Amino acid sequence: MDFIDLKKQQGRIREKIDSRIKSVLDHGKYIMGPEVFELEEKLAEYVGVKYCLSCSSGTDALLIPLMAKNIGPGDAVITTPFTYIATAEVISLLGAEPIFVDIYPETYNINPEKINSALESAKVKGLIPKAIIAVDLFGLPARYRLLEKIAKENDLLLLEDAAQGFGGQIRNRKAGSFGHVSSTSFFPAKPLGCYGDGGAIFTDDYEMAQVMQSIRVHGSGKDKYQNIRVGVNGRLDTIQAAILIEKLEIFDDEILLRNKISTYYTKNIISQIKKPFVPRDYISSWAQYSLMAASEQERQETTSMLKDSNIPSMIYYKIPLHLQDVYKNLGHSIGDFPFSEDAAKRIFSLPMHPYLTIQEQNKIIKVLNGLSVNE
Ligand SMILES: Cc1ncc(COP(=O)(O)O)c(C=O)c1O
Repeated sequence: MDFIDLKKQQGRIREKIDSRIKSVLDHGKYIMGPEVFELEEKLAEYVGVKYCLSCSSGTDALLIPLMAKNIGPGDAVITTPFTYIATAEVISLLGAEPIFVDIYPETYNINPEKINSALESAKVKGLIPKAIIAVDLFGLPARYRLLEKIAKENDLLLLEDAAQGFGGQIRNRKAGSFGHVSSTSFFPAKPLGCYGDGGAIFTDDYEMAQVMQSIRVHGSGKDKYQNIRVGVNGRLDTIQAAILIEKLEIFDDEILLRNKISTYYTKNIISQIKKPFVPRDYISSWAQYSLMAASEQERQETTSMLKDSNIPSMIYYKIPLHLQDVYKNLGHSIGDFPFSEDAAKRIFSLPMHPYLTIQEQNKIIKVLNGLSVNE
C-alpha cells in the first residue's frame, strides 16, 4: 500500500497525458508554450478569479506576491508556525520577519482571534506589519471570514497559501480565491500535482497581476531583455502545464473520491484517536487525513502497529517552525505556541489518495481499531 499512489491516477489518464506531451514535443515551445496559457485560463475559471499566473513552484507562488508588494527588511508578516517551512521561508528570504500566531486545536489552521495581539508585539519590536499568510492546512481552508476582516481593518495584504487546500471550498467560494492573492503548489503529491515542480498564483487585482507577471520573468518590461525591477525565473514548464490540463479534467471527481474516503475513515475508526474536524459549510480537499493520538507515546505505538501491517503513515509536522533551528534568531521557546507544539507531538496522517481501495481502507481501520487484520 502506498501513502499516496500516483500510479493509479496515471493509469486512468495515461493515453491523454502521452498525447498532450507528444503535442508539446511536436510544437517545441517548451517555455511559455500555448498549454501554459490554456492551463492558466482553465485554472482561473475553476477557482473563479480573474487572473491566474502559473509558476515554477508553490514556494515561488508565495514569494512573487510578497515581492510584488515590496515586502522586505523592517516588515512583519503574520503566519502560522504549524506549516511547511516554505510558508515562512519566503518571508525571511525577503529580509522581513515572520510573526507566528498559534492555531486552532480543532482545525490546525491559524487562529485569527490571536492576530491583533501579534500585530501589537510586532510593532513593539519596531516592525511594520504588512501581510498575513494563512495556510489551508491538510486541505481545509482557513477561517477567511475573520481573516479578511482583520486584514481589511489593519490594511494588510492577505495571502492564502492553498498549496494543500486547492480543491477545497467554503460555501460556494473555492480555495485559491480567498484574500487579495492566493498561491498553490503542483508538487506531485499535492491534491492537484504535476510530474515535477510547479505552482500557481490567483488574484482579481489587475495591477498586482501585471507586476507579478513581470517578476515571474526576471522583472521584465516590454520583453525579458528590458528589465524594470528585480525578479526571478519563475515560469512553469510547458510540459507540466500540458500534464496539468489533463489532471484538472478529473480533479473534481478526485476531490469527491477523497471526501468519500475521509467520511468512511471518520465513520469507522472507533478508537479514541481524535479525528479531523470540518466546520459546517467547509469542504476539504483532503491533502492529508490526520489523526491526533492521546500522547506522543500513543502515536509511536499506533504508527508502529500500522507499519507492522505494512501501512505507511507520515507525521506533518514534527517540529513547529518557531522551534526549528533556522528560526533560533527569533528567540522563541517551548510554550510560545502551545497548540502547535501539542499537535506536533501527537499528530499523524493516514494513507490518502482518490484510488485507495475499500479493502485498503478496511485494513487501515481494523488496525487502528485494534483488530487483527486477518479477521
Ligand atoms: C503549506 C505549503 N506551502 C508551500 C509549499 C511549497 O510548495 P512547493 O513544494 O511546490 O514549493 C508546500 C509544499 O509542500 C506546502 O505544503
